[in-house]
Amino acid sequence: MRGIILAGGTGSRLRPLTSGISKQLMPVYDKPMIYYPLSTLILAGVQDVLIITTPRDRPTFEHVLGDGSQFGIRLSYCAQPSPDGLAQALVLGETFLAGRPSAVVLGDNLLHGPGLGTSMHSYETASGATIFGCWVRDPTPYGVVEVSADGRALSIEEKPLQPRSHLAVPGLYFYDGTASERARSLSPSSRGELEITDLHRSYMTDDALRVQVMPRGTVWLDTGTVGDLAAAGEFVRTVQQRQGLAVGAPEEAAWRVGLLDDGELASRAERLTGSEYGRYLRDLVDQETSTHRAGA
Ligand code: TTP
Repeated sequence: MRGIILAGGTGSRLRPLTSGISKQLMPVYDKPMIYYPLSTLILAGVQDVLIITTPRDRPTFEHVLGDGSQFGIRLSYCAQPSPDGLAQALVLGETFLAGRPSAVVLGDNLLHGPGLGTSMHSYETASGATIFGCWVRDPTPYGVVEVSADGRALSIEEKPLQPRSHLAVPGLYFYDGTASERARSLSPSSRGELEITDLHRSYMTDDALRVQVMPRGTVWLDTGTVGDLAAAGEFVRTVQQRQGLAVGAPEEAAWRVGLLDDGELASRAERLTGSEYGRYLRDLVDQETSTHRAGA
């Protein structure tokens, strides 16, 4: 399974913060935002990731993340000429995916909690598409899914004014090898974008869309507005201070799934000497061998 992170877009709701810097490189407490979705993909078992950026920001992403060896994976980059929609990722990534199954994640989404660890590996071999439903107070800014008692999608709507459920669709999607072909056959919506919801409808029409309702303890935050960005930072700070375990550290995720061994993790930590983040990575090995493993 290969991964795609959507880190383009305009970031208009975060202006003037995004006038010179990409939204997905903004700090969410102690790390760049993109570290969170990158960690999600690594935990899902992905080792090859394509990062979609704006043409302006591509060099900065390459500078910050490099070829992925810091995280025990391979990273490549693709500039999206203009923000023409989330489903365009599958078209831009067609050669990269080459018919393989994929995990696509939005670069401004943070997911944390049960079910988001190694159990996601099972989606690699599933046919069709798997999306998630997450209960939120106000689902109107999101894709909203209605689910039958046996877990089938009954309807899926983008930003409905009158949502049929409280289940919003978070920015993590698993597809079989047909996603690029399906995305290529979509037409732009009235707002001129290739809509991810239309891609999901294509799977739904073929009875190939599964919806997994996330357990109540799952935290899904999107960081698209200044309020959301501050709240996400506060969430990460609170959990990390209380537990002493990081949220969204890709080196740790890689170590937990076996992509980095103890020595490799230590060398990655050394490059970050002087920071709390570096100390955390350095101490992980000792801490975890002396106590129970904290799990992925
Ligand atoms: P959005 O938050 O929907 O859009 P945006 O980032 O452009 O922000 P704003 O609405 O404030 O202008 O995008 C969700 C994620 O997908 C985000 O990480 C940006 C990314 N994205 C792309 O990479 N390409 C696109 O064409 C679009 C629309 C979004």
